[in-house]
Amino acid sequence: MSEIRIFGQSPLKGEISIQGSKNAALPMMAAALLHKGVTVLMNVPAIRDVSCMADILEYLGCHVRRQGGCMAIDAREIKNTAVPDHFVRSMRSSIVVLGALLGRTGEGSGCYPGGCLIGARPIDLHLKVFRELGADIRETDGRLAVERGREGIRGAEIHLDYPSVGATEQAILASVLARDVTVVHGAAKEPEITQLCEFLNNMGAIICGMGTEHLMIQGVRCLHDSSFRVEGDRIVAGTYGAAAAAAGGDILMKGIRPSFLRVPLAFLARTGARVRTEETTGRIQVSMEEIPGCLDIRTGPYPEFPTDLQSPFMALLASGRGISHIEERVFEGRFATAEALNAMGARIRIRDREAVIEGVRPLHGARVEAADLRGGAALAVAGLAASGETCISGCIHIERGYEDICRDLTALGARIRWAKEDGA
Ligand code: EPZ
Repeated sequence: MSEIRIFGQSPLKGEISIQGSKNAALPMMAAALLHKGVTVLMNVPAIRDVSCMADILEYLGCHVRRQGGCMAIDAREIKNTAVPDHFVRSMRSSIVVLGALLGRTGEGSGCYPGGCLIGARPIDLHLKVFRELGADIRETDGRLAVERGREGIRGAEIHLDYPSVGATEQAILASVLARDVTVVHGAAKEPEITQLCEFLNNMGAIICGMGTEHLMIQGVRCLHDSSFRVEGDRIVAGTYGAAAAAAGGDILMKGIRPSFLRVPLAFLARTGARVRTEETTGRIQVSMEEIPGCLDIRTGPYPEFPTDLQSPFMALLASGRGISHIEERVFEGRFATAEALNAMGARIRIRDREAVIEGVRPLHGARVEAADLRGGAALAVAGLAASGETCISGCIHIERGYEDICRDLTALGARIRWAKEDGA
């Protein structure tokens, strides 16, 4: 198993291109199942979760070919509609494949995606979407099967009492080929949802209301071959912005739309960083010459502060000065990284959904383990600002969402590298 070694306290300097968005690419790959033909995606990130989704599509009968960031998905033949348990267990977001299978074949099944490292993650809203679209749901010994009811999959007025990203994606995927019109009230407004709708419209779907809480999907009979470019990953860009603010220096990120990160960038500026953006060319520059100041953050659905940047910003605030507060209102189990940060000298106290962070400058290097995907990235942020060497194990979590965090941060001047856990 590999680990990450970081020698901290080197200011970051340089420029990088941001990888394609994990949370946009995954539902688009599932959506390719809806078309009996070939769908080409560009700027697809080379990460574990994308490989897992490609394996699922292959298992279901698709042919997936990759060349660099390009991916061609040939979904002319669907041979299976049951997603094997190990796929769902290793990547819970694969559950959106059920919505696409229901839309394409009228049935789909898979094991219940259990909770994960950041919370219970129920799927009651997913099931509500399927029922309201006219699907029958069977739950037998841990497996979930959905199939079109007697009247087929028909348009519906769906009301989500929480703007769940996954449940919104299920509604879109299951209704694109349905009869009539589906309206989703209380839909998620994340940029990844907007991109999924734009991608599907580019395939011949008829969806409007993107970016609002009322999505309207007019069912169509079929889709057509298409190609589409995945936007840059706003969470990866936000992670590196936090790293620059924590370590100091001056970085330029390309291939990312600043409008996707308006709130996190405003918070970075409040810590004392200088943030310059160019929406037309897709660039974000972050420079920091002082010790980061403190913040009060509350996470929430888009456009509020994204829960996926909570841990990286916790690492930034732990490396700064003053007393900060973070309220995590999306996932109840997303403070696990505080323990590892405290092992680096941080002073973080957790009470229910609130973290109180007393900045310490500098933190000191330590051997720490990644608790989850974004928590692992947060430890890299802390290691860049800490004195001495930090060794991060459990990097398989980080590889789920970051193509190569060592490659990217090295390009920005960080002293960071992959190493074997036996010290080589
Ligand atoms: C997506 O997860 C993202 N994953 C997550 O990113 C992200 O943190 C999350 O949206 C919020 O933005 C992907 O896109 C692959 P939700 P998802 O359904 O769809 C509750 C990362 O690090 N809920 O919006 O699972 C749920 O418990 C990952 O890249 C229900 O109660 O998020 C949670 O409290 C982590 N019932 C809240 O909604 C349901 O049926 C948000 O969940 C579904 C969700």
